[in-house]
Amino acid sequence: MNTIFTVVGARPQFIKAAVVSRALRAHRSLRECFVHTGQHYDENMSGIFFQELGMSPPDVQLAVGSGGHGAQTGRMLEALEREMLARKPRCVLIYGDTNSTLAAALAAVKLHIPVAHVEAGLRSFNMRMPEEVNRIVADRVSDLLFTPTDDADRNLANEGVPSWRVHRVGDVMLDAVQHELSQPQDSILDSLGLAAGGYVLATIHRAENTDVTERLKVIAEALERIAEEVPVVLPLHPRTAHAMTASGITLNRVRLLDPVGYRAMIALEAGASIVVTDSGGVQKEAFFSRRPCVTLRDQTEWTELVDAGWNRLAPPTDVQSIVDATRYMLSNVPATAPAFYGDGTAGERIVRVLTEHFGV
Ligand code: UD1
Ligand code: UDP
Repeated sequence: MNTIFTVVGARPQFIKAAVVSRALRAHRSLRECFVHTGQHYDENMSGIFFQELGMSPPDVQLAVGSGGHGAQTGRMLEALEREMLARKPRCVLIYGDTNSTLAAALAAVKLHIPVAHVEAGLRSFNMRMPEEVNRIVADRVSDLLFTPTDDADRNLANEGVPSWRVHRVGDVMLDAVQHELSQPQDSILDSLGLAAGGYVLATIHRAENTDVTERLKVIAEALERIAEEVPVVLPLHPRTAHAMTASGITLNRVRLLDPVGYRAMIALEAGASIVVTDSGGVQKEAFFSRRPCVTLRDQTEWTELVDAGWNRLAPPTDVQSIVDATRYMLSNVPATAPAFYGDGTAGERIVRVLTEHFGV
């Protein structure tokens, strides 16, 4: 049997992998073995996505949990190598740029198992980001590179990657959002008493913001200032919750929520007047819902959104510039929304390439 070994571990990866899993199920020639590294483990960071997205529980749960980069990646590497040796997959499918992505790529390439990378080619050109290191290594050792955008193709070409390894399929997150928007909308706005178009949705979790107290303080103060004018809703990533507690940062006006499920998140994005975030996925989802976005980072991998006026970078070094960027974006929503991310069939395209490549 041709086993495709899917390795995921973090929240956005469950959402992306659900798209490809759905497409894989339609192909009897391929059997998916779904491996969860355990990088994320809280119910609202992991289990909820499997239930909401109609996924079976993982075939393998490695339960590595949290830790420093070395310890966490090392534990994954050892466990993944053991599983790959035992199950002999035809190919290892990886997503994005987390430590789970890196560990799976390294384990597979050293066992001479082909690696296929979904969301390949993205670059921030900031090697201080753990994600940049992870994605560069993952791309370097991957046999098949599934890219979402023109920019990703260009980055790989500039690095000398031969074009036959690159498959432009579009963005699986667009497939996921389109699937979700075809379902009845989640009722979270009603339960929170929020009016559509009447609040700002914020998310913060990037290490460069949470691990640097000065930056986190600037973000907190900026969100509090924005909340003086319009309600701000912030589903809080556990990393950020811990960092705020450790540095004594409290929010009084901003409405804090525990992390929400995917269905509620899509509803919150669709109902927001604007999104303020440092998340990669949420930047794109804002665009999919045609909401403007302010990104609290020094750079973004999704440069086409900045160029098209849908996204504005506001590095969290200055409170006023974040407030100004939010005001500006609220009154300057672009009129057109080009199809940067494909047509919502990235999942099927990926499976087609896999079947052709492996001749199954
Ligand atoms: C990871 C990814 C990041 C991705 C993000 C998605 C890496 C290096 N980073 O960052 O690229 O954008 O996932 O959300 O892989 N924690 C809990 N419960 C959980 C999970 C985490 O309490 O279920 C806390 C722990 O204190 C942990 C911290 O959050 O130490 C950070 O988790 P970790 O998975 O290491 O990194 P993320 O910040 O989530
Ligand atoms: N998301 C969610 N609940 C939340 C916050 C985010 O379901 O409380 C979803 C969001 O809709 C997107 C993905 O998680 O699909 C983004 O993940 P995250 O921001 O954690 O990571 P990144 O995309 O930056 O790697």
